[in-house]
Amino acid sequence: MTAIDARHATTATQPFDVTRVREDFPILRQLVRGKPLVYLDSAATAQKPQAVIDTLVRYYTTENANVHRGVHYLSQQATDDYEGGRSKVRAFLNAKEDREIIFVRGTTEGINLVAATYGRKNLGPDDEIIMTAMEHHSNIVPWQILCQEQGAKLRVIPMNERGELLMEEYEKLLNPRTKMVSVVHQSNALGTLNPVAEIIRLAHQQGVPVLLDGAQAVPHMVIDVQSLDCDFLTFSGHKLFGPTGIGVLYGKAALLEAMPPYQGGGDMIRSVTFERTTYNDLPYKFEAGTPHIEGSIGLGAAIDYLTALGLEQTAAYEHELLAYGTGRLSEVPGLTIIGTAREKAGVLSFVLENVHPHDIGTILDTEGIAIRTGHHCCQPVMDRFGIPATARASLAFYNTREEIDALVAGLHKVVEVFG
Ligand code: ALA
Repeated sequence: MTAIDARHATTATQPFDVTRVREDFPILRQLVRGKPLVYLDSAATAQKPQAVIDTLVRYYTTENANVHRGVHYLSQQATDDYEGGRSKVRAFLNAKEDREIIFVRGTTEGINLVAATYGRKNLGPDDEIIMTAMEHHSNIVPWQILCQEQGAKLRVIPMNERGELLMEEYEKLLNPRTKMVSVVHQSNALGTLNPVAEIIRLAHQQGVPVLLDGAQAVPHMVIDVQSLDCDFLTFSGHKLFGPTGIGVLYGKAALLEAMPPYQGGGDMIRSVTFERTTYNDLPYKFEAGTPHIEGSIGLGAAIDYLTALGLEQTAAYEHELLAYGTGRLSEVPGLTIIGTAREKAGVLSFVLENVHPHDIGTILDTEGIAIRTGHHCCQPVMDRFGIPATARASLAFYNTREEIDALVAGLHKVVEVFG
């Protein structure tokens, strides 16, 4: 067991007590449309434990100041806690150094940063970027913009009917023109867990760096960037039970050092004259302007919370819930699950015969049940399955079997209405 595995498993000897854990999430106590809230939309954004909310209130109540700029007490406190958040992220991902952790707005900005800096510097005409058929738009469009600018090309690893990548096609796509592999770890639309260790191994055999879109994976499984050996990994704080507007780009220090800055402004410079600017060290070179100070501090609180629960334990619980939900959904007449990969995490995407997903979502909402409907920012996935949209229930460790039962009961009502 590595040090990071040991830390994530600290409470694994105690049974997971979901009733107690739910008490940590005040939003879950409320009634919605007169019914107990059933929140099944954690892939869109996760709810926040009281510990995160309290941390944000404490920050604004006692500590608010700008960072890296003041000699006064509050600024020093804010700086310590902002940088403390970075150290917590570093430990959580088992990165080597704090300077490999760049704060960004979220996964989308992390990918845009790499495409705009590493991409512009290293990709030229006819160079290729490999991605998967199940990418979120945020891992397609930044690369398309780069392709338009630089004359590079996208190459797409296809998937089968279950939503599993065809790895033999990936091997065929890798070639001397491949300059970047940028893939989603866990699909937000299908739940598929991609074999990222193998994807990285094969890319590295050809000297190609790999970026992982970790938006869905990081909140739900232990990620160790050193053992994965990914070159970049990006995720969003709000899906990790932390604040919105904060995210992380992890990059290997040598790659980040060689990349040009993303945005110019305060804090990312060492010295400025009208003739010339020299840039600050990592990570500040990529953090222009006043950063999301409470975002880092709140994200640190979310990481503390999750680490205390034990990520291995929450992942195992979510996995059980997924198996239960998959079985229960199959009882609903006319329902087809979209995304049946053998390696899968807490997403149940489905369509119901003769019912538009938006109608499913609207009827479930009258029951206090929150799911997401639409293309989930994955239009190519919908095209692959020949559907306009799905209804999607996505799970977190605060969900229960009773909530899955409520979803199934709600779906039977939908079938009655449209039957
Ligand atoms: N990408 C997020 C989702 O899947 C917003 O809902």
